[in-house]
Parts: sequence; structure tokens; C-alpha cells
Amino acid sequence: MRIGIPRESKAGETLVAATPATAAELRKLGYDVVLEARAGDRADQPDEAYTAAGVRIVDGPTVWASDVVAKVNPPSDDEIARLRPGTVLVSLMAPGSSPDLLEKLRAAGVTALALDAVPRISRAQALDVLSSMANIAGYRAVVEAAHAFGRQFTGQVTAAGKVPPARVFVVGAGVAGLAAIGAARAMGAVVRAFDVRPEVAEQVESMGAEFVFVDMEQQASVDGYAQQMTAAQEAATAAMYDAEVRAADIVITTALIPGRPAPRLVPAATVAGMQPGSVIVDMAAANGGNVEGTVAGQRVTTASRVTIIGYTDLVSRLPGQSSQLFGTNVVNLFKLLTPGNDGCPVLDLDDVVQRGMTVARDGELLWPPPPVQVSAAPPPAPAPAPAPPPPPRPRDPRIRLYGAGLAALLFLLLATYSPSALLNHFTVFVLAIFVGYYVISNVVHALHTPLMSETNAISGIILVGGILQIGHENLLVTVLGTIAVLVASINIFGGFLVTSRMLQMFHKG
Ligand SMILES: NC(=O)c1ccc[n+]([C@@H]2O[C@H](COP(=O)([O-])OP(=O)(O)OC[C@H]3O[C@@H](n4cnc5c(N)ncnc54)[C@H](O)[C@@H]3O)[C@@H](O)[C@H]2O)c1
Repeated sequence: MRIGIPRESKAGETLVAATPATAAELRKLGYDVVLEARAGDRADQPDEAYTAAGVRIVDGPTVWASDVVAKVNPPSDDEIARLRPGTVLVSLMAPGSSPDLLEKLRAAGVTALALDAVPRISRAQALDVLSSMANIAGYRAVVEAAHAFGRQFTGQVTAAGKVPPARVFVVGAGVAGLAAIGAARAMGAVVRAFDVRPEVAEQVESMGAEFVFVDMEQQASVDGYAQQMTAAQEAATAAMYDAEVRAADIVITTALIPGRPAPRLVPAATVAGMQPGSVIVDMAAANGGNVEGTVAGQRVTTASRVTIIGYTDLVSRLPGQSSQLFGTNVVNLFKLLTPGNDGCPVLDLDDVVQRGMTVARDGELLWPPPPVQVSAAPPPAPAPAPAPPPPPRPRDPRIRLYGAGLAALLFLLLATYSPSALLNHFTVFVLAIFVGYYVISNVVHALHTPLMSETNAISGIILVGGILQIGHENLLVTVLGTIAVLVASINIFGGFLVTSRMLQMFHKG
């Protein structure tokens, strides 16, 4: 079957639904891929690159007459009129807020798959366009903030004086929020973040930011998204927002509850309390904004010299990478739809992912889909607390004294009756234990893997020493040598096995 990739008609759109690399992947699945001439220009993907990938460059009518049309934005009325009944249309559709569009697609008799209706479950992550795009947008929000901010993010001590790091406060630690945290941390800022879902605190902290805890009843997500806040939660967070926003140089807001207008979290009075030169990037601008004073699509400066950025095209500002990730999501969708690798999509409505994104088929409206329960289910009710364990019996202090006496006696016997060489070796051994203990216990977690390689090298030395001793005339030395060879081998080969398994985790497929 033929997949057509049209040029995006939305004003200012820079993305294209397939890059040469992703189009080649679609061809591997058995599809014939055609591209409307110059559709990839604005994403720096020239026609020649598509041709080299085996894609035919054609005119608009040929693209729209394809069996499958894959595009980025929801189709316009003109574009819907160009679709043949039975065509499979794949694009963003915002089905929750576009009943008119869904009705038109139904009436056109097409099979409409909404890329922005992929259920947020682990299995569907590979085709979750919203996550891919939010990730890029979160990064770009920090770039925009850094551009508008009159200082650098990282702190420095220079001959001309000390420069403190920028303080960044991120509201909402979903996909975009976490990406923003990562980018701001990488640029050297001190980052704090808040989210109504308590389960994200660990992720926030693992990215080097500090999670702001508020004394309130926290939420537990049932579908991977936040729920509407209660009045008590709203009151508890309002004071926190006021303090955190005023103290921050940069604020990035991403708070969203699907299907609802963005919650208004930062009032104008709080914005006015920020230092002149501070910057807010309101990523929820398209849905009404989290910040009072945001203008969708615009960068405004308040009377108190605070810049509020409400750009709604953050993704389009990185068109090359966005198109590549978007196209990869489309490829992953077609991998799911083409189990036979034969270029013929088969829609399985019993599959929760395919059902979730199918909004219309054969003149029938299939929106909304049945609700999906995901892994982020509410935590089970707490079990009754177990009876406290009996208090430990106090240790007899004499035991420690006897132990120390015994160790001293053993050492005395060893020093008196053993050859002096053994005593020298013993002293080195004891010192090695002390040095090793303090060195290893001070190694940060991130360096544990290189440390494992180091111990592998040490085990190699032990292995060589053990092999050299195996032929010794003294049986005890031979036995000890054999044990050393055995133990060191376990460490070396076990280390390689663990490393190999870790590397496999980064392999695709
Ligand atoms: N401007 C752009 O170009 C652009 C591009 C992509 C996404 N976005 C927007 O970015 C926002 C985030 O997208 P996402 O994919 O990360 O969504 P997401 O659902 O993954 O994350 C939103 C987060 O906000 C949290 N949240 C909800 N209500 C909150 C509240 N009252 N206080 C604090 N946290 C709250 C949720 O728990 C969730 O973690 C959305 O508004 C989306 O439309 C903008």
C-alpha cells in the first residue's frame, strides 16, 4: 500500500511527518512512500534526501489519493475533502476538543487514527507523539528562557566577582517539566519543582532538582495524568506558588489536566513580586495558560520588567529533531499495524492502544474510547501497621572487650611465631582493608560501574598470583591458590556478565 506524506498547510508549521530516515523504515515494512514536493524543506530535509531513501516525490493530489495519509496537524476542511473513503488518516487531531473535526472525518468515511490519543501506558510509549513533542518543548522552553534572561544560568567565581546560579522553578513534572528540569540543571541552574502527583518527587530528585513538598492531601494518578485539584489542595498550594515564584529567576509552568483548560496557578500579583529581569515560560499558553498575563504565541514584558513567554510553537522551533521523533513515532505505529511486514495495515480494535487512537472508521464514530486503567494505579489501602518488634536486648559491653582481647592475643601469637615476611604481608593487608574501605565508601553512585572495572583489574592480578602458586610444594599454598583463582574468576566473569546485561538494556528492540 502507499503512504502519502503531504506538505503541512498550517501557517508557520515547520515539521514534516516523515524524514528520509523514517520513510526508509516505512519502506522496510513493505510500504510504498510518496512525499509532496518540498514537504521537508522547513525541517531541513530536502527532496533529494528522500529520493535517496527510496521515496517518490509527487504532487499534492497524488499524496492525498494514497491509501494512507500521514501528517502532523489535524486536516483542514479542504484536506478532508481530498481524502477518499476508506483512506487511513494518521495525524494529531485533539479529539477531546474537536467534535466538529471528528464528525467530518466520520462523514468522509475514513479511518482516522489520532496520534494524540495514544493511551499513556508503557507499551504505547514508542508511539506517544505527545510525549516526544513535550520532551522537546520542555528543552526548548529553557532555551527560550535563557535567551530572554539577562544573566547566565551557571554560577561562577571570577576575578570580577562571584556570580550566583540562576534559580529555576518548574511547575508540573510531567514529560515537559522533567525535560525542562534536565535542561536547566545541565546549564548549571539550581532547580526546584512541584507537581500535584507525589509519585514524581523521586524522578524530580533523580534529575538533580529539589521537589517542593506542600502539606496537603496528594493525588494518585489512575491514567498517567493528574486529576482536578480539590479546593483544599488549591488553597495549600497557592501560598507555596507565591513564595517559590517570587524567589525564582526563571519559572517554567507545564501544569495540565487533559481535556480541561490549564489551571491558573500564578496570579499577576505574584508575577509583580518577581525581580525585574525574571522570565516565565508558560508552556500551557495554548490552553489558557498557568500564569495571569500570558498571551498565547507572544512574548510580553510586564510593567515590573518580568518577561512572560507564551510561545505555542516550541516544538516547531526545533523542526529537524521534532520531525525525526514524530516520524519515528509514526514508524512505530505502523510496526504495530503491520504484523506481516507486508505493507498492509491491519487494525485490531481489541488492542487497547489501537482502539484508543481510532476515532472514526467506516462511517462510524469511535470516540471516546473505553477508559484505560494503567500501571500508575492508585496505591492499595495501607495495611494495618504490624505490631512493633520487641526492643533489642542491650548488648553486654564485656563482649566487645573480650573480642578485642582475643584479637590482640591472636596478633601477638602471629607476631611471635610466624616468619617476619608474613608479618609484613599482614600489615600491608590490614592497611589495604582500611584504605579500601574509606576509598570505596566515598565513591559516588554514578562511579560504581567504573569502580567495578577497577575491581576486575585487581581480580586479574589475584588470578595471576593464584595460578603461579598452584604448583607450590606446600599443599596449603596450593589449596589457597586454587581458592583465589576460583573466587577471582567468579568476580571477573560475573562482572563481565553484569556489564553485558547492563549494555543490553540500551540496545534497541
Ligand atoms: N508550548 C508548546 O509549544 C508546547 C509543546 C508541547 C507541550 N506543551 C504543553 O506543555 C504542557 C505539559 O505537557 P506534558 O506532556 O508534560 O503534560 P503531562 O501531563 O505529562 O504533565 C503535566 C504535569 O502537570 C501536573 N499538574 C497538573 N495540574 C497541576 C497543578 N495544578 N499544579 C502542579 N502540577 C500540576 C501533572 O501532574 C503533570 O505531571 C501541556 O500544557 C502541553 O500542552 C506546550
